[in-house]
Parts: sequence; C-alpha cells; structure tokens
Amino acid sequence: MKKMWEGRFSEASSELLERFNASIMFDRELYEDDIAGSIAHASMLGDAGIITKDEASAIKSGLEQILAEINEGKFEWKIADEDIHMSVEKRLSEIVGKEIGGKLHTARSRNDQVALDFRRFVMRKNREISVQILNLIKTLLEISNSHTDALMPGYTHLQHAQPVSLAFHLLAYIYMFKRDYERFVSSFERGNFSPLGSAALAGTPHRINRHATASALGFYAPMENAMDGVSDRDFALEILFNISLFFMHASRLCEELILWSSSEFGFIAISDAYSTGSSIMPQKKNPDVAELIRGKTGRAYGNLMGLLTVMKGLALAYNKDMQEDKEGVFDSVKAILESVAILNEMLKTAKFNKKNMLSATERGHLSATDLADFLVREKGVAFREAHFITGKCVAAAERAGKDLSQMSAEELRGIDERITPDALAFLGLKASMDARKSFGGASSSSVLAQIASVQKWLGEKSSSI
Ligand code: ARG
Repeated sequence: MKKMWEGRFSEASSELLERFNASIMFDRELYEDDIAGSIAHASMLGDAGIITKDEASAIKSGLEQILAEINEGKFEWKIADEDIHMSVEKRLSEIVGKEIGGKLHTARSRNDQVALDFRRFVMRKNREISVQILNLIKTLLEISNSHTDALMPGYTHLQHAQPVSLAFHLLAYIYMFKRDYERFVSSFERGNFSPLGSAALAGTPHRINRHATASALGFYAPMENAMDGVSDRDFALEILFNISLFFMHASRLCEELILWSSSEFGFIAISDAYSTGSSIMPQKKNPDVAELIRGKTGRAYGNLMGLLTVMKGLALAYNKDMQEDKEGVFDSVKAILESVAILNEMLKTAKFNKKNMLSATERGHLSATDLADFLVREKGVAFREAHFITGKCVAAAERAGKDLSQMSAEELRGIDERITPDALAFLGLKASMDARKSFGGASSSSVLAQIASVQKWLGEKSSSI
C-alpha cells in the first residue's frame, strides 16, 4: 500500500502500526468539514494564482463527488489511508488524476487541516446544543407558568424547609440551563476563528489568503498565530466542560425527578412513553431516562478529564497525542444531544400531582420561620427567643398530631400570649410563601417577575438565532 508520506521510507509499515496509528475509524465523522475545508482552500489557491482556476474547479467537483459518495454510503474506508484527510485526498487523485489532485495540499498541512475540521465540527455542535437547551428552557418555563400556584415543600438536607411553588423550584433549573446556554454561545464566540493556513506550524511561503478561507468557512477571522492555530485545543476542552456542567445540572434535575416519581413523594407521573418496566416485577414503572442522564454525567466528566490530561505538558506544536482529542468529544456531544432531546420530551409529557405536593407541604411545619418572624416583626421579640417559642409551638403541634399551620389561635396563645390571633394569617402555607417578596424570593409576585424576565430573554434569543 502506497503512503502519501512514504518518500523517505525504504520499508513498508507494519500492519500493527497501521492499525495503531490510524484515526479513520473515528475521524471520518469529520468528512463534511474536511471536504468543505478543502473546497475553500482549493478555491483560495485558484484565486491567489497558486493553482489555475481550472485546476481549482476540477478539484472542487472532485470533492463534491466524494461528498456524495460518502453520503450515499458508496465510499470505501480503508485503515491504510490512515485518516479522513488522506482518505479524501487519495480518492480525489483517483477522480481528477494525480497531477491535479496532488496540488490540493499546497500551502497546507494535516496539522492545520485537522485543527480546522475539528474546530468547525465543535463550533457547529456548540450551536446545535445551545438551540436544544433553549427548547428545554421553553418547556420548563411553560411548566412553571402553569404551576405558579402549585405549592410544594422547598428542601434543605432533603428535609422539608419552607413552602415554595413548583414554578419557583423549576425556575432554579431554568437559570442553570440559561447559564449553560450562555456558555456554549460564548465558547462559540471565542473559538470561531480559523486555523487553516497555519500549515505545519509556522505558516507558508505561498501567498495564501487566510482571511478568504476563514470567511468562506463561516469563521470570524483567521487565528493570529500559526503555532497557536495548530496547537490549540481549548475549543474542544471548552465544549467538554460546558457539556459536563450541563450534565451536572441535568443530573440534579433527574435525581429530583427520580425521587418525585417514587411512591414516597408521588409528585410526578412520568408518562409511559418515557418509562420502562421490569422484566420480573409486573407492577414496576421505572424512571430509566432520568437515571441514564444522571449516569451519562460520569462519561461526560471522564471525557473532559481525559482530554485535559492528554493536553497537559505537550510541547508545541502538533503532537500525535492530539489525535486522542476526538473520540471523547464525539461521545460527549452525542450524549448531550440525545439527553437534552429526551429530557425535553419527558418533561413535556410528565404530569405533576398538585394534590400530593400540597399534602407534603402540610407536613413538617414549613411555616415555623414565619411564626418566629411574626414575633420579631409584630411583637418586638428578639429572634433567638422567637425561635425558642416557635420551637415550643412545633412540639405542641407534634403532640396534637397536626402541622403548625393547622394549630388554632387558642392553642398557640396557650404557649405564649404574645402569639395573638393575627399570627394565623402568617402561618398559612401560601401566605408563608408569598411573604418571601425579597428580590429573587419564592413569593408569587417574585416568581411572576422571574418568569417575565426569562420570557423576555427568550424572546431576544429566539430572534437572534
Ligand atoms: N489524524 C491526525 C489527528 O487526528 C491528523 C493530523 C496528523 N498530523 C501529523 N502530522 N501526523 O491528529
């Protein structure tokens, strides 16, 4: 098998080396970017007079034919061709002849070629992922909008803490996903610069036009330093980090969906379409989707750690170690795209059980802080003492087998006479929630303001995509 680089070699490669060295098994994923990059490069070479216009157009049609062959599954992939770059170039020479095909690689190296292909792929995925995250935010916002009055316990330490609405709880996730969205967008903005024309590491003596290829390929501009152009993989690390952080957020939501769908909580019924059964227990309905998303978080972190470690301490410029940069990114990208899509559908089709959420809110004396705050604000009691008195009321409620919010005026008065009947208005669960009017708080008015703010933001985003 002839190799493109075999000129200085006198012995053939071993088969072991061929397999070990090759990346074609996975980097063929980049074929569209590789071909687009080559078309832009060839037409720039033609415009700059480095090859003739006729040669450039023959190369372009040859490359378009290859694209069609790959799309139609007719392209023959061979390990011996090593990688996507050489596979395409070799086929090009078969189609247009070696004389012309051999000119495509003028003023270019596989080092800038792979950096280009991979970067272009990652930039496209940054966009695809960010659009999908917007859809997820829209779904969560719709659910929030229709559950502003759905009371549920807010938790700390997984213990009932204070009453909130489902809307308020979901808004917390909306803000996480909003930051995730912004991270993918900002990685795009920072990374969308073209390495093409960096050549092997130091640029080229040919009079190329890097600005032309950068803009033809949808980049803002060429990268300013050729050595950085071929050595930098920050864009890949950023998408891996962004994906990891998204998964960290999604895994927390999924953990809650898993808890909420248990008989102990009963807050949510995940639709049959997104649940699975057990092979032995006929009654079971399992939240596998949420568990799998929680589980995929592990591989997202692994891929990030993997590439951070590959890049550590690598002397400039290109090193073959960097061939290890792609599989983890492909894997994480696939995992997030699948996960966001199914999470979105699962949420859209889930039913929240307001009755169960409300009755959970009636357990655990969620308005205890409100009674203490009443004593402080209305009766001038020091907070520490108010805390103590309220503690006594909670104990009395426990003895009476009631929630604090269900205690009568007389019962409370009997514990401390400063608890006048007007205290009752503060003890209701809805009143307790609505009292938290501080900016960003759980009150209905604050929640409506948060919904309006996210809606406004979404409106601006949707028009700019
Ligand atoms: N398959 C290689 C990679 O993925 C392409 C670049 C090879 N460059 C080189 N100088 N060997 O990194």
